[in-house]
Amino acid sequence: VAAKEDAADGVIDVNEIPVRYDDAQLWRIYNISEHMQNNMPLAETLENQFGGVIWKENSKFLDISINKDNLKAARSYLAEHNIDKEVVHTNIQELIDAVELEGIKATQSEAGSRTKKQARSGINWKDYHDLETIYDFMREIRSKFPKICRLYSIGKTAEGRDLKVLRISENPREYKKIWIDGGIHAREWISPATVTFIVYQILSKWESQPAYIKQRTWYFMPVVNPDGYVYSRNVNRLWRKNRSPSSSSSCYGVDLNRNFNINWNGRGSSTNPCSDTYRGTTPASELETKAVENFLSRRKHNLSAYLTYHSYGQYIVYPWAYKAVKVKDSAALQRVGKTAAERILSKTGTVYRSDVTHALLGIAGGGSDDWARAACGAKYVYTVELRDKGEYGFQLPPSQIRGTAEEGMIVAETVAQAIAL
Ligand code: ARG
Ligand code: ZN
Repeated sequence: VAAKEDAADGVIDVNEIPVRYDDAQLWRIYNISEHMQNNMPLAETLENQFGGVIWKENSKFLDISINKDNLKAARSYLAEHNIDKEVVHTNIQELIDAVELEGIKATQSEAGSRTKKQARSGINWKDYHDLETIYDFMREIRSKFPKICRLYSIGKTAEGRDLKVLRISENPREYKKIWIDGGIHAREWISPATVTFIVYQILSKWESQPAYIKQRTWYFMPVVNPDGYVYSRNVNRLWRKNRSPSSSSSCYGVDLNRNFNINWNGRGSSTNPCSDTYRGTTPASELETKAVENFLSRRKHNLSAYLTYHSYGQYIVYPWAYKAVKVKDSAALQRVGKTAAERILSKTGTVYRSDVTHALLGIAGGGSDDWARAACGAKYVYTVELRDKGEYGFQLPPSQIRGTAEEGMIVAETVAQAIAL
């Protein structure tokens, strides 16, 4: 998508000029905890000094991309400090372009074989879709199943986009609630794709679904961060945060998964508006966070599960993330997480690990998962990190959307089944 040019005065908004990653490299660095520099984690140093974009950080390794112009300096910095790195990719733009090309091909062959059964919204799970297609899909579902579906706009974003939630329930007053969201992080495109897939799977066979699916109140919010999603599709593929402007900096965006009102100013987030894990100015300072917190806290009665889909890493993690303590009933969460992982393995052959968040991903405050547990009392709270393990990272090929979404569906089914009717 080209930058929009203002016809009248020829002004180009720099925020709309597409960011390219030609010859940018992706590095993986192990044992990062050994590499503190002046009390600053290595990831932060690389982010601040060399414009590095952190893709993934966990207890074992750091995946970070470095732009062409900073490669030399970043390389010598690591060499100076005797830090080893693995070069995973040498041209990230190629990865980005490959996903686009594959999607175009899939769409063309889809168009060739289109039948009357084709959804009007044009959604499928052979390609990633823009926000409008996802929202059209939600509207289409609501009008096809008007008796059991309700569509909410739970708020608006800084750029004025709707925050949409779809409820599916035959008896919203009685049935236990399961909330499922995606797209908190803009660049994790597989997440909204997985959430829409779950909606489709559940509804397309609604009448024959087992009681543990049918006798539930489901809430689906496929895109918690629409501004970020649009920005990641149109301008900067690796964008993570939302797009709210800062009053103290020229940098944009708050990490919504560090902005929830749970140990908000604790470890694992940044006070720097330019950081990818910027926590914002106050708990729930962001419209998206506020909307979700308001909507859910008014519906916390009977809220049995909160599932949030992210990528990547293939993990099924449960609270707490903000402190190195397990929740009281963590045995149940571990059992259900493990069952989901086993079912995935036998069905698709993909390995997922289930464990408590702080052990696998490190400590971080302000997460939506911990908030849902602490503030709403949801029992089965999981953050699911979908495929892959870093081979393609956020640029997961469209041919893997369906298989990955099936894995997400298995987690949702397993959790639904674990909850007593
Ligand atoms: N990759 C996710 C993030 O960094 C993991 C979220 C796990 N939960 C948490 N509260 N940190 O946001
Ligand atoms: Zn994420």
